[in-house]
Amino acid sequence: MNSRTDTPVTVIGLGLMGRALAGAFLRAGHPTTVWNRTTSKADQLVAEGARLAPTVADALGAGSLTIICVTDYQAVYELLGASDGELDGKTLINLTSGDSTQAREAAQWAGQRGAHYLDGAIMAIPSAIGTAEAVILHSGPRPDFEAHRSTLDALGTVTYLGADQGLASLYDVAGLAMMWSVLNAWLQGTALLRTAGVDAATYAPFARQIAATVAEWLPGYAEQIDSGSFPAEVSALETDARAMAHLIEESETVGVNTELPKLFKSMADRSIAAGHGGEQYPVLIEEFSRPRKN
Ligand SMILES: NC(=O)c1ccc[n+]([C@@H]2O[C@H](COP(=O)([O-])OP(=O)(O)OC[C@H]3O[C@@H](n4cnc5c(N)ncnc54)[C@H](OP(=O)(O)O)[C@@H]3O)[C@@H](O)[C@H]2O)c1
Repeated sequence: MNSRTDTPVTVIGLGLMGRALAGAFLRAGHPTTVWNRTTSKADQLVAEGARLAPTVADALGAGSLTIICVTDYQAVYELLGASDGELDGKTLINLTSGDSTQAREAAQWAGQRGAHYLDGAIMAIPSAIGTAEAVILHSGPRPDFEAHRSTLDALGTVTYLGADQGLASLYDVAGLAMMWSVLNAWLQGTALLRTAGVDAATYAPFARQIAATVAEWLPGYAEQIDSGSFPAEVSALETDARAMAHLIEESETVGVNTELPKLFKSMADRSIAAGHGGEQYPVLIEEFSRPRKN
Protein backbone atom coordinates (compact mmCIF):
# COMPACT_ATOMS: atom_id res chain seq x y z
CA MET A 1 0.00 0.00 0.00
CA ASN A 2 1.24 3.43 -0.90
CA SER A 3 -0.31 5.90 1.52
CA ARG A 4 0.60 9.58 1.58
CA THR A 5 1.40 10.19 5.20
CA ASP A 6 1.24 13.95 5.57
CA THR A 7 -2.49 14.45 5.06
CA PRO A 8 -4.44 15.24 8.23
CA VAL A 9 -7.41 12.95 8.79
CA THR A 10 -10.34 13.14 11.17
CA VAL A 11 -12.12 10.01 12.36
CA ILE A 12 -15.52 10.42 14.02
CA GLY A 13 -16.85 7.36 15.83
CA LEU A 14 -14.44 5.23 17.82
CA GLY A 15 -16.28 1.96 18.20
CA LEU A 16 -14.48 -1.26 17.32
CA MET A 17 -14.22 -0.28 13.67
CA GLY A 18 -13.58 3.45 14.11
CA ARG A 19 -10.68 2.74 16.48
CA ALA A 20 -9.19 0.35 13.91
CA LEU A 21 -9.52 2.98 11.17
CA ALA A 22 -7.94 5.73 13.27
CA GLY A 23 -5.16 3.36 14.37
CA ALA A 24 -4.33 2.54 10.74
CA PHE A 25 -4.09 6.23 9.84
CA LEU A 26 -1.84 6.82 12.83
CA ARG A 27 0.42 3.89 11.98
CA ALA A 28 0.73 5.24 8.44
CA GLY A 29 1.88 8.56 9.93
CA HIS A 30 -1.17 10.73 9.26
CA PRO A 31 -1.85 13.51 11.74
CA THR A 32 -5.11 12.08 13.10
CA THR A 33 -7.87 13.90 14.96
CA VAL A 34 -10.55 11.79 16.60
CA TRP A 35 -13.91 12.35 18.26
CA ASN A 36 -16.26 9.95 20.01
CA ARG A 37 -19.36 10.38 22.16
CA THR A 38 -17.74 8.25 24.85
CA THR A 39 -14.39 9.99 25.11
CA SER A 40 -12.61 7.19 27.00
CA LYS A 41 -12.57 5.11 23.80
CA ALA A 42 -10.01 7.60 22.47
CA ASP A 43 -7.50 6.98 25.28
CA GLN A 44 -5.37 4.38 23.51
CA LEU A 45 -5.37 6.36 20.26
CA VAL A 46 -4.33 9.52 22.07
CA ALA A 47 -1.51 7.55 23.70
CA GLU A 48 -0.45 6.57 20.17
CA GLY A 49 -0.44 10.18 19.00
CA ALA A 50 -4.00 11.07 18.01
CA ARG A 51 -5.53 14.42 18.98
CA LEU A 52 -8.90 14.17 20.74
CA ALA A 53 -11.13 16.98 19.47
CA PRO A 54 -13.32 18.55 22.17
CA THR A 55 -16.32 18.86 19.83
CA VAL A 56 -17.56 17.46 16.54
CA ALA A 57 -17.20 20.94 15.02
CA ASP A 58 -13.56 21.08 16.09
CA ALA A 59 -12.99 17.60 14.66
CA LEU A 60 -14.53 18.59 11.32
CA GLY A 61 -12.45 21.75 11.24
CA ALA A 62 -9.14 19.92 11.79
CA GLY A 63 -8.57 19.05 8.15
CA SER A 64 -10.21 18.60 4.79
CA LEU A 65 -10.96 14.87 5.15
CA THR A 66 -13.32 13.31 7.69
CA ILE A 67 -14.17 9.63 7.98
CA ILE A 68 -17.28 8.81 9.97
CA CYS A 69 -18.02 5.26 11.15
CA VAL A 70 -20.83 4.90 13.66
CA THR A 71 -23.67 2.46 14.29
CA ASP A 72 -26.14 3.72 11.69
CA TYR A 73 -27.12 6.67 9.49
CA GLN A 74 -29.38 8.09 12.20
CA ALA A 75 -26.30 8.51 14.38
CA VAL A 76 -24.49 10.19 11.48
CA TYR A 77 -27.22 12.84 11.21
CA GLU A 78 -27.41 13.29 14.99
CA LEU A 79 -23.67 13.83 15.19
CA LEU A 80 -23.07 16.00 12.16
CA GLY A 81 -26.38 17.84 12.10
CA ALA A 82 -25.45 20.17 14.95
CA SER A 83 -22.18 21.23 13.29
CA ASP A 84 -23.15 21.03 9.66
CA GLY A 85 -21.77 24.49 8.87
CA GLU A 86 -18.33 22.94 9.24
CA LEU A 87 -18.94 20.59 6.32
CA ASP A 88 -18.66 23.30 3.67
CA GLY A 89 -15.79 22.49 1.31
CA LYS A 90 -14.80 19.35 3.25
CA THR A 91 -14.74 15.76 2.11
CA LEU A 92 -16.88 13.43 4.19
CA ILE A 93 -16.45 9.68 3.78
CA ASN A 94 -19.19 7.72 5.47
CA LEU A 95 -18.10 4.15 6.27
CA THR A 96 -21.20 3.49 8.38
CA SER A 97 -23.15 0.45 7.18
CA GLY A 98 -26.49 1.20 5.56
CA ASP A 99 -28.52 0.65 2.43
CA SER A 100 -28.25 2.31 -0.98
CA THR A 101 -31.19 4.66 -0.38
CA GLN A 102 -29.64 5.89 2.85
CA ALA A 103 -26.35 6.45 1.05
CA ARG A 104 -27.95 8.50 -1.73
CA GLU A 105 -29.96 10.53 0.79
CA ALA A 106 -26.84 11.19 2.87
CA ALA A 107 -25.00 12.33 -0.27
CA GLN A 108 -27.80 14.81 -0.95
CA TRP A 109 -27.79 15.97 2.69
CA ALA A 110 -24.03 16.50 2.67
CA GLY A 111 -24.11 18.16 -0.77
CA GLN A 112 -26.66 20.69 0.50
CA ARG A 113 -24.08 21.62 3.16
CA GLY A 114 -21.30 22.07 0.63
CA ALA A 115 -19.48 18.82 1.37
CA HIS A 116 -17.93 16.37 -1.05
CA TYR A 117 -19.47 13.05 -0.05
CA LEU A 118 -18.30 9.51 -0.63
CA ASP A 119 -20.11 6.52 0.73
CA GLY A 120 -18.29 3.37 1.68
CA ALA A 121 -18.66 -0.18 2.90
CA ILE A 122 -16.12 -2.09 4.91
CA MET A 123 -15.79 -5.76 3.96
CA ALA A 124 -13.47 -6.64 6.82
CA ILE A 125 -13.19 -7.12 10.56
CA PRO A 126 -11.41 -4.48 12.66
CA SER A 127 -8.20 -6.51 13.10
CA ALA A 128 -7.72 -6.65 9.30
CA ILE A 129 -7.87 -2.87 8.85
CA GLY A 130 -4.52 -1.56 7.63
CA THR A 131 -3.74 -4.79 5.76
CA ALA A 132 -4.41 -5.74 2.15
CA GLU A 133 -7.04 -8.21 3.40
CA ALA A 134 -9.35 -5.34 4.34
CA VAL A 135 -11.45 -4.53 1.29
CA ILE A 136 -13.09 -1.13 1.55
CA LEU A 137 -15.55 -0.12 -1.14
CA HIS A 138 -16.22 3.49 -2.12
CA SER A 139 -18.76 5.16 -4.35
CA GLY A 140 -19.41 8.77 -5.27
CA PRO A 141 -17.76 11.35 -7.53
CA ARG A 142 -14.48 9.96 -8.85
CA PRO A 143 -12.51 13.21 -8.45
CA ASP A 144 -13.39 13.26 -4.72
CA PHE A 145 -12.19 9.68 -4.37
CA GLU A 146 -9.00 10.25 -6.35
CA ALA A 147 -8.19 13.35 -4.29
CA HIS A 148 -7.95 11.16 -1.17
CA ARG A 149 -7.04 7.78 -2.56
CA SER A 150 -3.44 7.83 -1.37
CA THR A 151 -4.61 8.65 2.17
CA LEU A 152 -7.31 5.96 2.11
CA ASP A 153 -4.69 3.40 1.06
CA ALA A 154 -3.63 3.30 4.71
CA LEU A 155 -6.85 1.40 5.47
CA GLY A 156 -6.43 -1.59 3.19
CA THR A 157 -7.44 -2.55 -0.33
CA VAL A 158 -9.40 0.50 -1.29
CA THR A 159 -11.74 0.10 -4.24
CA TYR A 160 -13.70 2.66 -6.26
CA LEU A 161 -16.99 1.40 -7.72
CA GLY A 162 -18.58 4.35 -9.51
CA ALA A 163 -20.33 7.69 -9.19
CA ASP A 164 -23.66 6.38 -7.86
CA GLN A 165 -23.40 6.84 -4.09
CA GLY A 166 -25.52 3.74 -3.50
CA LEU A 167 -23.09 1.34 -5.17
CA ALA A 168 -20.91 0.60 -2.13
CA SER A 169 -23.95 -0.50 -0.13
CA LEU A 170 -25.30 -2.57 -3.03
CA TYR A 171 -21.97 -4.34 -3.55
CA ASP A 172 -21.85 -4.92 0.19
CA VAL A 173 -25.18 -6.79 0.26
CA ALA A 174 -24.45 -8.53 -3.04
CA GLY A 175 -21.30 -9.90 -1.40
CA LEU A 176 -23.31 -11.07 1.60
CA ALA A 177 -25.78 -12.85 -0.71
CA MET A 178 -22.85 -14.67 -2.31
CA MET A 179 -21.30 -15.55 1.02
CA TRP A 180 -24.45 -16.96 2.62
CA SER A 181 -25.50 -18.80 -0.53
CA VAL A 182 -22.18 -20.62 -0.78
CA LEU A 183 -22.15 -21.39 2.94
CA ASN A 184 -25.76 -22.61 2.96
CA ALA A 185 -25.15 -24.87 -0.04
CA TRP A 186 -22.08 -26.30 1.70
CA LEU A 187 -24.06 -26.87 4.90
CA GLN A 188 -26.80 -28.70 2.95
CA GLY A 189 -24.21 -31.04 1.41
CA THR A 190 -22.47 -31.52 4.73
CA ALA A 191 -25.76 -32.44 6.42
CA LEU A 192 -26.47 -35.00 3.68
CA LEU A 193 -23.02 -36.59 3.92
CA ARG A 194 -22.99 -36.72 7.71
CA THR A 195 -25.93 -39.12 7.52
CA ALA A 196 -23.46 -41.57 5.93
CA GLY A 197 -20.75 -40.89 8.49
CA VAL A 198 -18.72 -38.48 6.32
CA ASP A 199 -17.50 -35.65 8.50
CA ALA A 200 -17.45 -31.99 7.50
CA ALA A 201 -13.66 -31.88 7.17
CA THR A 202 -13.72 -34.73 4.65
CA TYR A 203 -16.32 -33.04 2.48
CA ALA A 204 -14.84 -29.51 2.72
CA PRO A 205 -12.05 -29.90 0.10
CA PHE A 206 -14.51 -31.51 -2.32
CA ALA A 207 -17.02 -28.70 -1.75
CA ARG A 208 -14.29 -26.13 -2.22
CA GLN A 209 -13.43 -27.63 -5.62
CA ILE A 210 -17.10 -27.45 -6.69
CA ALA A 211 -17.34 -23.82 -5.57
CA ALA A 212 -14.20 -22.99 -7.57
CA THR A 213 -15.56 -24.76 -10.67
CA VAL A 214 -18.90 -22.96 -10.43
CA ALA A 215 -17.11 -19.64 -9.92
CA GLU A 216 -15.43 -20.19 -13.29
CA TRP A 217 -18.83 -20.28 -14.98
CA LEU A 218 -19.74 -16.77 -13.82
CA PRO A 219 -18.17 -14.65 -16.59
CA GLY A 220 -19.86 -16.71 -19.34
CA TYR A 221 -23.18 -16.74 -17.52
CA ALA A 222 -22.89 -12.99 -16.95
CA GLU A 223 -22.58 -12.51 -20.70
CA GLN A 224 -25.85 -14.38 -21.16
CA ILE A 225 -27.57 -12.19 -18.55
CA ASP A 226 -26.23 -8.97 -20.04
CA SER A 227 -27.25 -9.99 -23.56
CA GLY A 228 -30.65 -11.32 -22.43
CA SER A 229 -30.09 -14.54 -24.39
CA PHE A 230 -29.82 -17.92 -22.63
CA PRO A 231 -29.05 -20.70 -25.10
CA ALA A 232 -28.66 -24.08 -23.34
CA GLU A 233 -25.01 -24.68 -24.18
CA VAL A 234 -24.31 -26.92 -21.18
CA SER A 235 -27.71 -27.98 -19.87
CA ALA A 236 -31.30 -26.83 -19.97
CA LEU A 237 -33.10 -25.51 -16.89
CA GLU A 238 -35.55 -28.44 -17.02
CA THR A 239 -32.56 -30.82 -16.67
CA ASP A 240 -31.39 -28.86 -13.62
CA ALA A 241 -34.92 -29.00 -12.20
CA ARG A 242 -34.90 -32.82 -12.40
CA ALA A 243 -31.61 -32.85 -10.47
CA MET A 244 -33.18 -30.51 -7.92
CA ALA A 245 -36.00 -33.02 -7.44
CA HIS A 246 -33.34 -35.68 -6.69
CA LEU A 247 -31.75 -33.38 -4.13
CA ILE A 248 -35.13 -32.90 -2.41
CA GLU A 249 -35.92 -36.64 -2.49
CA GLU A 250 -32.51 -37.59 -1.12
CA SER A 251 -32.77 -34.97 1.61
CA GLU A 252 -36.20 -36.31 2.60
CA THR A 253 -35.02 -39.92 2.49
CA VAL A 254 -32.05 -39.40 4.78
CA GLY A 255 -33.99 -37.03 7.02
CA VAL A 256 -32.28 -33.67 6.60
CA ASN A 257 -33.78 -30.24 6.03
CA THR A 258 -35.37 -29.63 2.61
CA GLU A 259 -36.10 -25.90 2.77
CA LEU A 260 -33.15 -24.81 0.63
CA PRO A 261 -33.56 -27.44 -2.14
CA LYS A 262 -37.30 -26.67 -2.26
CA LEU A 263 -36.52 -22.98 -2.68
CA PHE A 264 -34.20 -23.74 -5.64
CA LYS A 265 -36.84 -25.94 -7.22
CA SER A 266 -39.76 -23.56 -6.74
CA MET A 267 -37.87 -20.80 -8.53
CA ALA A 268 -36.88 -23.12 -11.38
CA ASP A 269 -40.45 -24.43 -11.65
CA ARG A 270 -41.84 -20.91 -11.99
CA SER A 271 -39.34 -20.13 -14.72
CA ILE A 272 -40.16 -23.38 -16.53
CA ALA A 273 -43.89 -22.58 -16.25
CA ALA A 274 -43.13 -19.23 -17.85
CA GLY A 275 -41.64 -21.08 -20.84
CA HIS A 276 -37.92 -21.05 -20.03
CA GLY A 277 -37.33 -24.78 -19.45
CA GLY A 278 -35.22 -25.13 -22.58
CA GLU A 279 -32.92 -22.25 -21.67
CA GLN A 280 -29.82 -22.21 -19.52
CA TYR A 281 -29.68 -21.67 -15.75
CA PRO A 282 -28.95 -17.90 -15.73
CA VAL A 283 -32.42 -17.31 -17.20
CA LEU A 284 -33.47 -17.48 -13.52
CA ILE A 285 -32.26 -13.88 -13.27
CA GLU A 286 -35.80 -13.04 -14.30
CA GLU A 287 -37.13 -14.67 -11.13
CA PHE A 288 -34.49 -12.94 -9.01
CA SER A 289 -35.16 -9.55 -10.57
CA ARG A 290 -38.71 -9.12 -9.32
CA PRO A 291 -40.61 -9.68 -6.11
CA ARG A 292 -42.23 -13.09 -5.91
CA LYS A 293 -45.71 -13.21 -7.40
CA ASN A 294 -48.05 -15.33 -5.29
N1 LIG B 1 -17.04 -4.30 13.60
C1 LIG B 1 -17.04 -4.89 12.40
O1 LIG B 1 -16.53 -6.01 12.22
C2 LIG B 1 -17.60 -4.15 11.21
C3 LIG B 1 -17.35 -4.66 9.91
C4 LIG B 1 -17.86 -3.98 8.81
C5 LIG B 1 -18.61 -2.82 9.00
N2 LIG B 1 -18.84 -2.37 10.27
C6 LIG B 1 -19.67 -1.17 10.42
O2 LIG B 1 -18.96 -0.15 11.08
C7 LIG B 1 -19.90 0.66 11.84
C8 LIG B 1 -19.41 0.77 13.26
O3 LIG B 1 -19.31 -0.55 13.78
P1 LIG B 1 -18.52 -0.86 15.12
O4 LIG B 1 -18.20 -2.32 15.09
O5 LIG B 1 -17.44 0.14 15.31
O6 LIG B 1 -19.69 -0.61 16.19
P2 LIG B 1 -19.55 -0.24 17.74
O7 LIG B 1 -18.30 -0.81 18.30
O8 LIG B 1 -20.84 -0.63 18.34
O9 LIG B 1 -19.40 1.35 17.74
C9 LIG B 1 -20.49 2.18 17.42
C10 LIG B 1 -20.01 3.60 17.35
O10 LIG B 1 -21.12 4.43 17.01
C11 LIG B 1 -21.23 5.47 18.02
N3 LIG B 1 -22.62 5.87 18.12
C12 LIG B 1 -23.72 5.11 17.98
N4 LIG B 1 -24.85 5.84 18.12
C13 LIG B 1 -24.44 7.10 18.36
C14 LIG B 1 -25.13 8.33 18.56
N5 LIG B 1 -26.47 8.39 18.56
N6 LIG B 1 -24.39 9.43 18.76
C15 LIG B 1 -23.04 9.38 18.77
N7 LIG B 1 -22.33 8.26 18.57
C16 LIG B 1 -23.02 7.13 18.35
C17 LIG B 1 -20.68 4.82 19.26
O11 LIG B 1 -20.35 5.81 20.20
P3 LIG B 1 -20.11 5.38 21.75
O12 LIG B 1 -18.74 4.78 21.78
O13 LIG B 1 -20.22 6.65 22.50
O14 LIG B 1 -21.20 4.40 22.10
C18 LIG B 1 -19.45 4.14 18.66
O15 LIG B 1 -18.43 5.07 18.38
C19 LIG B 1 -21.27 -0.03 11.73
O16 LIG B 1 -22.05 0.59 10.75
C20 LIG B 1 -20.88 -1.44 11.32
O17 LIG B 1 -21.91 -2.09 10.62
C21 LIG B 1 -18.34 -2.99 11.38
